[in-house]
Amino acid sequence: MHLSSTITGTGSYLPERVLTNHDLEAMVDTTDEWIIERTGIKERRIAADDQTTSDLACEASKAALRSAGRQAQELDLIIVATTTPDMLMPSTACMLQAKLGASRAAAFDVSAACSGFLYALAVANGMIRSGSHKRVLVVGAEVLSRFMDWQDRSTCVLFGDGAGAVLLEASDDKNRGIMSVKLHADGKLWELLHIPGGGSTEPISHKMIEDRLNFIKMRGNETFKVAVRALESLVVDSLKENGLKASDIALLIPHQANIRIILATASRLGMPMDRVMLNLERVGNTSAASIPIAMDEAAKQGRISENDYILLEAFGAGLTWASALIKW
Ligand code: UT7
Repeated sequence: MHLSSTITGTGSYLPERVLTNHDLEAMVDTTDEWIIERTGIKERRIAADDQTTSDLACEASKAALRSAGRQAQELDLIIVATTTPDMLMPSTACMLQAKLGASRAAAFDVSAACSGFLYALAVANGMIRSGSHKRVLVVGAEVLSRFMDWQDRSTCVLFGDGAGAVLLEASDDKNRGIMSVKLHADGKLWELLHIPGGGSTEPISHKMIEDRLNFIKMRGNETFKVAVRALESLVVDSLKENGLKASDIALLIPHQANIRIILATASRLGMPMDRVMLNLERVGNTSAASIPIAMDEAAKQGRISENDYILLEAFGAGLTWASALIKW
């Protein structure tokens, strides 16, 4: 049994190719102004044709291991949160395990869409605290560009590719590390955000492809309203349950889906925007990769110091939503 799990390293990776709002203007009926005003996004990254989700995950993982001063062989578990796996089978975590040479590590994926990284963090935290594992790599990685309908302006302007990773290690210091994680789901609302084709409901067929069912479908405005409501009460409850006030939080790291959702959540908490991590302008919505990328960038920018309280929150398909409170 260990008393806590602490983050000992972070890493992230963004593919080189940049797709700007102006590039999108040439592809669908949209404008730079609309995208910035409605989402806050100016550009996003797109994986090269030969890059897979596990390739992006591998770059982020190597950076996290480097920052922790650890070798891949020291890992005993790898958990990858992704909505866009390399293949339906095997897990992307197994592909990553092979690429890293982490031969001692067990490996599996977690599927909770944009909340996936926080769900994976909760699983890793529980396994470390139970004493079954000591050194767990938790990764969020996505190549969403392969699941976008590049003819659908209501979704293709939102998402981007990328990966982020953290190394979580067992510690006997109960006053630091993952202090609490809250996980929620409402499966009745699955239709608001989903990929209809390619699974057992609608197996791959010529008709399924013709009907463009292999792409992400979202009822954006309805999703937006549920997200704002769910996240506002989630962040307030997370602080209350831990006996903290917004002024105790050094940095809020929200899932980077929409600047208007982030502003509403921060405002409900009374959190000034200079203590909110933002990178969606450059990165877009990278689903499960969003929070670990933002966390790594915040750490590299010197925005997180030892013993700081950090609040993470996410919302996504499922519907799912989640938060985590960390003492750095
Ligand atoms: O990360 C997982 C969770 N995802 C989210 O949390 C995303 C939640 N949703 C959103 O972020 C927002 O709903 C969007 C950014 C997707 C859309 O913003 P909105 O303010 O909810 O706009 P809307 O969907 O109500 O659309 C308003 C108008 C519509 O035109 P009409 O019907 O008013 O004539 C759309 O057809 O904007 C139109 N529109 C666009 N116009 C230009 C939709 N997409 C575009 C576009 N460019 N790309």
